[in-house]
Amino acid sequence: MATPIILDCDPGTDDAFALFLALASPELDVRAITVAGGNVGLDRTLANALALTRLTGSNVPVYRGADRPLLGAFFNEPRVHGVDGLGGITLPDGGQPEHELAADAIRRILRTAAEPVTLVGIAPVSNLALALMTEPSLTSNIDQIVLMSGAWAEGNATPAAEFNALNDPEALAVLLACGRPVVFATLELTAQALVTPTRLAVLRGRGTGRCLAAACDIQATVPLSRRVPGSPLHDPCAIAWLLRPSLFTTRACSAKVDLAPGIGRGRTVIDRWNRTGDPLNAVVLETLDADGFFELLGERLALLR
Ligand code: BDR
Ligand code: CA
Repeated sequence: MATPIILDCDPGTDDAFALFLALASPELDVRAITVAGGNVGLDRTLANALALTRLTGSNVPVYRGADRPLLGAFFNEPRVHGVDGLGGITLPDGGQPEHELAADAIRRILRTAAEPVTLVGIAPVSNLALALMTEPSLTSNIDQIVLMSGAWAEGNATPAAEFNALNDPEALAVLLACGRPVVFATLELTAQALVTPTRLAVLRGRGTGRCLAAACDIQATVPLSRRVPGSPLHDPCAIAWLLRPSLFTTRACSAKVDLAPGIGRGRTVIDRWNRTGDPLNAVVLETLDADGFFELLGERLALLR
């Protein structure tokens, strides 16, 4: 039976790959795509999520979510994602979202699902936190919470903090305290999922479908990272964990997020060596079989139309 998931995203160039990978994979039953602001403003991330979803031919419902974090305002990342979030690559209009709002949809799905649902967060986790804050008993119907978030060492948005964690650290703290383990695809993990010109050419050569072409066109606009030799394909790592956990090695840890104002805000403090003895509320994905990851990605994206 397919694993039911809710995909919470802010497309976003790498979100586009995650969304396509999820919708192309029969092992996953995507019950909802919920959208927050983040990489660009909510109006754009929502339009992008709708356009990407409809490009696949899928009728999975798409929901409008948070246009701001629990405190303050989102900051965006147009340097990586372009001012429109998809590197200026134009897609056919994807129509309108559902009338229901993201947090309401997340709660309804968790409340009514016959089996535990996996939450996948590849954006600031405001929508997921709002849902759990307003009906905490629903955590009992969560299987896993899988996030692209955080870093155990250096950040990418600030020296201390990764972009999604920094954009709503209070929301991340809600998830870390909810009682279900949080699986982290951190920057150290996604630094192993590097797109290079060769890998992009191989990916493009996997097929002639419009989704594969769009994904490759979008990725071609992403600048090389200053931190690593290539462009990390962050968000699809969270989906790949659900599809093929054998590609990863993992470690159970305790994790917290720094909420104090100042230079450390948004930093994820991941206790990989159990120095604190705190309860193990997280599973950190540590290593990735990158060739296996790109093989999976190419195989699945080639299935889309
Ligand atoms: C994360 O931040 C966003 O810019 C990406 O889409 C990804 O979710 C990487 O730090
Ligand atoms: Ca994202």
